[in-house]
Amino acid sequence: MEFLKLAAERYSARKFKAQPVEQEKIDQLLRAAQLAPSGRNNQSWQIYVLQSAEALAAMDECTPCRFEAPLAFLICYDIARQAHVDSNEVNMGLVDSAIATTQIMLAAQELGLGSCWVCRFDAEKTCDLFSLPDEIEPACFLPLGYAEIGPSERHTQRMPLAAHVEYR
Ligand SMILES: Cc1cc2nc3c(=O)[nH]c(=O)nc-3n(C[C@H](O)[C@H](O)[C@H](O)COP(=O)(O)O)c2cc1C
Repeated sequence: MEFLKLAAERYSARKFKAQPVEQEKIDQLLRAAQLAPSGRNNQSWQIYVLQSAEALAAMDECTPCRFEAPLAFLICYDIARQAHVDSNEVNMGLVDSAIATTQIMLAAQELGLGSCWVCRFDAEKTCDLFSLPDEIEPACFLPLGYAEIGPSERHTQRMPLAAHVEYR
């Protein structure tokens, strides 16, 4: 599929069918993350695949935004593995995990799956309920599955490029 068409068709899915996601598709989503660029190629992202009833219930304790998805990724980064650039304060682990998440979302779209980036979650509870090691920081949840409904009206609301872009 042509890239811009794929990017335009991706939207935040906020209701999912119960239909499970095939392991083959999960493998492709994880491969999309593996191919993502990262600071110094440190690949600091870390993904927990949530699909057991127990894991999904724990996710529901952390965020109201699972949207009944039968599958979700908890996308984190490893502060011990993230790159550092002395000249700035960029949180490279968060950037690495954001790029991996973006690639997963676009791969999901190509595979006919919906997704929704979720930053509305209780970080402390997430670390606790998923027993995350000290060096692992949660970045987002990503519910995934076959979407039950289409995009919200916000999906098509894009500011004009002139508001974001300057040629110098
Ligand atoms: C960093 C980030 C955090 C987001 N957090 C949430 C969230 O917690 N809950 C939610 O329903 N959507 C969340 N979204 C989805 C945005 O609301 C959505 O991308 C935006 O409204 C544009 O709509 P679209 O994705 O359908 O094009 C988030 C998106 C991003 C990129």
